[in-house]
Amino acid sequence: MLCLGIESSCDETAIAIVDEHNEILANCIFSQLKTHEAYGGVVPEIASRQHLDRIFPLLQEALKKANISLSDIDLIAATKGPGLMGSLLIGLNVAKTLAYCLNKPFIGVNHLEAHLHAATMLKKEDFGFPALGVLLSGGHTHLMLMQKKASFELISHTVDDAIGEAFDKAAVLLGLPYPGGPCIERLTKNGDPSRFSLKAGTVKNKPLHFSFSGLKTSFLYTLKGPKSDKHSLITLDKSLHADLAACFQKAAFDDVIKKSFLAAKKYAVKSILFGGGVTQNQYLREQFSLANKDNHPLLWPDKDLCLDNAAMIAGLGLYYHIYHNKQDSLDLEALTHFSKEACH
Ligand code: KG4
Ligand code: ZN
Repeated sequence: MLCLGIESSCDETAIAIVDEHNEILANCIFSQLKTHEAYGGVVPEIASRQHLDRIFPLLQEALKKANISLSDIDLIAATKGPGLMGSLLIGLNVAKTLAYCLNKPFIGVNHLEAHLHAATMLKKEDFGFPALGVLLSGGHTHLMLMQKKASFELISHTVDDAIGEAFDKAAVLLGLPYPGGPCIERLTKNGDPSRFSLKAGTVKNKPLHFSFSGLKTSFLYTLKGPKSDKHSLITLDKSLHADLAACFQKAAFDDVIKKSFLAAKKYAVKSILFGGGVTQNQYLREQFSLANKDNHPLLWPDKDLCLDNAAMIAGLGLYYHIYHNKQDSLDLEALTHFSKEACH
């Protein structure tokens, strides 16, 4: 069985073709990074226009790569949310149109669930349930409980900035390009993570929730120097930027690791799955393994399945269709926010 997956929730136009054994026949991505870099973040109107320009050439590219034609496709899956409304609509409507014209089933997939599903797609080893899902992306920081495969229950989330967003904002303050996460990680290679004292926030009465806006503010004031206020300019010597980046990265990940293991204990999970662009970070992977005293299986997505891609959308769409006999009607709406409705 072959599934064509379409992802267009933010600034990546992606089309993939995946079979029922999770073999990825094509995983084509057009990243709009270069376009949005100049603005320091994603401009929604430009993003949706670029999706429109790129989606059909990308479809041709994916079919060619997989060496199949449209008539070989058995199922069409597309991201239904969360994401930017204009961007989501392009992918969703292309998917619905293809499903209608080809007379094939259509299924809408939650982007966040797909990020976590990506961790299981290429894995041969066994992992037990319940499992903890740790989703760290540019727009979300979620802990999810998975009682079984492809079942997701939100445990906790950030009350302000998402972790990837905090990395991106810290990078802008250091004059680094967008997206900031990979640049910060590179800079930290020469940094001393104990030079400055930085800490992520806690949320009153919600020990598993996240808060990164205070960390971002302490980062800014450390960069400005002692006794600074909101009008002060940056005075920290450039030679200390790597140390500051290393302290920021450590503070953010210490917090994620601490809260993940708290949740793992509370829900007595048997394994931990990861998803989202931030989980590409090698330092995070190493620190998580070091803190894994109970030897939980840790399932990291392959590095090219961490960032936004359509293979994860096709993979989860196939899973729901084959094992839950699911398909959606063609009037399915796009959803900008994560909500109960957005979960299967
Ligand atoms: O999951 P993703 O591709 O998009 C969303 O769905 O949001 O994640 C993008 C985010 C960006 O904020 C980017 O800075 C961050 O992932 N990121 C990283 C790294 N690579 C990407 N953050 C920290 N370290 C990295 N190596
Ligand atoms: Zn994403």
